[in-house]
Amino acid sequence: MLSRNMDQKFISGIILLHLLVITSFYESRARELVETENKILDQTEHKNHAHNHNHNHNHMDPSVMVFFTLKDLKVGKRMQINFPKRDPSTSPKFWPREKTDSLPFSLNKLQTLLKIFSFSQDSPQAKAMVDTLKECESKPIKGEVKFCATSLESMLDFTQNILGSTNDLKVYATSHLTKSSVTFQNYTIQENTVKISATKMVACHTMPYPYAVFYCHSQESENKIFRVSLVGDNGDKVEAMVVCHMDTSHWGNGHVSFQVLGIMPGSSNVCHFFPADNFIWISKLEGHGVSVM
Ligand SMILES: *[C@@H]1O[C@H](CO)[C@@H](O)[C@H](O)[C@H]1NC(C)=O
Repeated sequence: MLSRNMDQKFISGIILLHLLVITSFYESRARELVETENKILDQTEHKNHAHNHNHNHNHMDPSVMVFFTLKDLKVGKRMQINFPKRDPSTSPKFWPREKTDSLPFSLNKLQTLLKIFSFSQDSPQAKAMVDTLKECESKPIKGEVKFCATSLESMLDFTQNILGSTNDLKVYATSHLTKSSVTFQNYTIQENTVKISATKMVACHTMPYPYAVFYCHSQESENKIFRVSLVGDNGDKVEAMVVCHMDTSHWGNGHVSFQVLGIMPGSSNVCHFFPADNFIWISKLEGHGVSVM
């Protein structure tokens, strides 16, 4: 990890300002951990469910309806998309690094962790923790660098290491311009899709855990980043972040996107929409947005 110096403190300050805007929704009142976990667990259950019932697009669980291929990224295209909207007041909060660094974060310390969080062995919360720890401990695929960040500070350290001696990071996230409780519906792609050119990016995805944990990763293979304006059938407006992975040949056969799209590893690019609480980091030095439609 980078050494702490004046520069880095300054940079972190700038990034924190950026992040504050986006993550202010994390900053609401403290709630019961258990309540939080139950919410997120629902999703995990859904994902597993989808794994078990593949090859049937019509009965696919909505939570996996985020994948598409690049050829469908055009004005007027209408598609079913799921945007999970986690209740901000019950989303896991970032904990300070000093606090998370003092806790174990590994599968072989599971018993200790369950005690700390008072989860029983076979509770759904315990299962979610196991899934997250397994995912975090799994080997990266070829050309991938991955890291599970257990604090905002460690997310920033990892991101700065990947994106080089950058003086400025830029972070993108999906934003909902309208308030509604609809999470799964048809959306139509509007004009002014913007392509964000960046040779490198770090994507950070929320993981179910008692406090905020992000699975952050960066791939060598080519990715394309877009910001896409969507309008839902009910009038909802979303500025959605999309990443397209141009090379999927190293992904496992069982990747859920292959089941959703009915394709084979490497046979096509795979794009996906980002939920609002995930981040895409790029270097500000190269992140120029260009309207592509
Ligand atoms: C999206 O539209 C299609 C065709 O109009 C329809 O069959 C489908 O049920 C819609 N999906 C949702 C989630 O409303």
